[in-house]
Amino acid sequence: MCGIIGYIGNREAYPILVQGLHRLEYRGYDSSGVALVDPSGELRIYKSKGKVDELERFARSKELGGTIGIAHTRWATHGEPNDTNAHPHCSQSGRIALVHNGTIENYDVLKQALRQHGYDFRSETDTEVLVQLIEYVMDSSGCTLFDAVREATHRIVGAYAIAVIDRENPNQIIAARRSSPLVIGISGTEAYYLASDATPIVEFTDEVVYLNDGEIAVINRNEKLRIVGSDNSESKINITKLEMSISELEKGGYPHFMLKEIFEQPKTIADCISGRISPDGERLTISGVLENRERFLKARRIVIVACGTSWHAGLIGKHLFEEFCRIPVEVEYASEFRYRHPVIGEGDVLIAVSQSGETADTLAALELAKGQGAFIFGICNVIGSSIPRATHSGCYIHVGPEIGVASTKAFTGQVTVLAMVALAVGRLRGTIDDERFRSVTRDLRRIPMLIEEVLKLDGRVRELSKIFTYAHNFLYLGRGYNYPAALEGALKLKEISYIHAEGYPAAEMKHGPIALIDNEMPTVVIATSDSIYEKTVSNIQQVKARNGRVLAIVTEGDEVASKIADWTLEIPEVCECLSPLLTSIPLQLLAYHTAVSKGRDVDRPRNLAKSVTVE
Ligand code: AGP
Ligand code: GLU
Repeated sequence: MCGIIGYIGNREAYPILVQGLHRLEYRGYDSSGVALVDPSGELRIYKSKGKVDELERFARSKELGGTIGIAHTRWATHGEPNDTNAHPHCSQSGRIALVHNGTIENYDVLKQALRQHGYDFRSETDTEVLVQLIEYVMDSSGCTLFDAVREATHRIVGAYAIAVIDRENPNQIIAARRSSPLVIGISGTEAYYLASDATPIVEFTDEVVYLNDGEIAVINRNEKLRIVGSDNSESKINITKLEMSISELEKGGYPHFMLKEIFEQPKTIADCISGRISPDGERLTISGVLENRERFLKARRIVIVACGTSWHAGLIGKHLFEEFCRIPVEVEYASEFRYRHPVIGEGDVLIAVSQSGETADTLAALELAKGQGAFIFGICNVIGSSIPRATHSGCYIHVGPEIGVASTKAFTGQVTVLAMVALAVGRLRGTIDDERFRSVTRDLRRIPMLIEEVLKLDGRVRELSKIFTYAHNFLYLGRGYNYPAALEGALKLKEISYIHAEGYPAAEMKHGPIALIDNEMPTVVIATSDSIYEKTVSNIQQVKARNGRVLAIVTEGDEVASKIADWTLEIPEVCECLSPLLTSIPLQLLAYHTAVSKGRDVDRPRNLAKSVTVE
């Protein structure tokens, strides 16, 4: 949620900051802004409602010099998206500028107190309180910016990643974090880059340092980086090498990142299983499982926590673990789990599934379970992000950066890793026989090739989507392994086309949603040839009997469902437990083309952000 970028070095800061904002725009895009200290020592702040292009248009005619600056692209939590609420925010005297990601829960109390000391507030944000508080601490105690940031962050309750500059010292950026990510890129001592994630940094340097919770970084021009821990001791500077490439951050000829990411799936799944499943399907190596053998052998229960699309992947994980490992599995919305009184013990394995590795609710849920003795296993995409660093062990999905706000390749990557982890644990516990094990690993190896086949449906889905742009509501139905795929299909459509869509277990439809069916509401049914195929066909009949219109996803050669449905999309045959990896592809394409037909901003749908680092 929100992107922060900062730069200090020998080059002009503005072009670096604006380019960084474009790279970070997927994190939040309701307004953006930049603060620079220009060569004459003036602090210049330019902000604009809307996308980064708006900021660029606005700033074009302005004074943009300076080799130090901070910038922000916002996802509003306090106050509507407008020019005034946009970051950076400036202190009363105009001396200090600050950008913030997160929420300050006690902002109102602090605001009242600061008002009594003569501070006025221009914006409705919680953030402005923090910059005024820093100035107040500096002015009242005569301390340094670093001390003031430390003191102010002790007084606030909530989550923050901040970057602060002071007009009086254009050779320093102070940055701090608690529960929101920050990473510092290092180019010798010549230049430092500060950002919410590594995407804007990778084109300048591959050496980064991830800030830990409670740490404050002191980034001085031409000096060595210093990081101070919450106990005020000097932290060790742990440099990590980035493995990302710039081409992964570009559209590569596709009109949108989302379409590129959908089409990348044959490769991303191949990368995900590469080195993990042997060519003959006999061996499967998931080091996080092998290294923690005992915890998996003794597991009484698995609890999967996640949000959104990752939660849907978790639901498929439940089927996989129950089938292969015979362990009871619960799948929880992280946001609900963290505020219940969950009964967790040492026999529990908690699996946190998160593409970004930064989702605040998922992070809090895993910390809660960790505190109660559970073994914590992470399934994430972004290397070095907060969740993998907070877990005992885990497995990356390795699908490369996902920029489109609607998750696609991360979903199939998560399902693939969940399948591999479940197979590995099942083998360890002796709950899956060799033949079944081999048939699934062999099918997993075929998935990239099969997705390649499914992607050939693209043109037909594009045509179909034109028929559907009229619809105001959609129903998505599936059963068993494909019920979560139906939920995911519905989420994709609503996220990017703004058409209301509900996912339902096909048999449950008759207990309520059947009342909605008429010839104006399309029903998408996943009716692949599986153990409950006949039952799903009956559900299609029930829709047709009420004059509903059905788009069915069926297995190649299908003769029954395709005769009843109005439209069909055929996918190749694969074992039932892996079928969501194929059925989800036409549903991604359907959401994409419907949204494009409706003229939506597919990669940056309204109100959403890629990485949800607030509650
Ligand atoms: C996916 O299309 C969504 N934008 C959203 O539901 C997302 O899956 C959710 O916020 C969880 O994110 P995470 O995987 O990064 O934790
Ligand atoms: N709470 C701050 C605001 O509403 C920061 C939001 C963000 O992370 O973008 O301005």
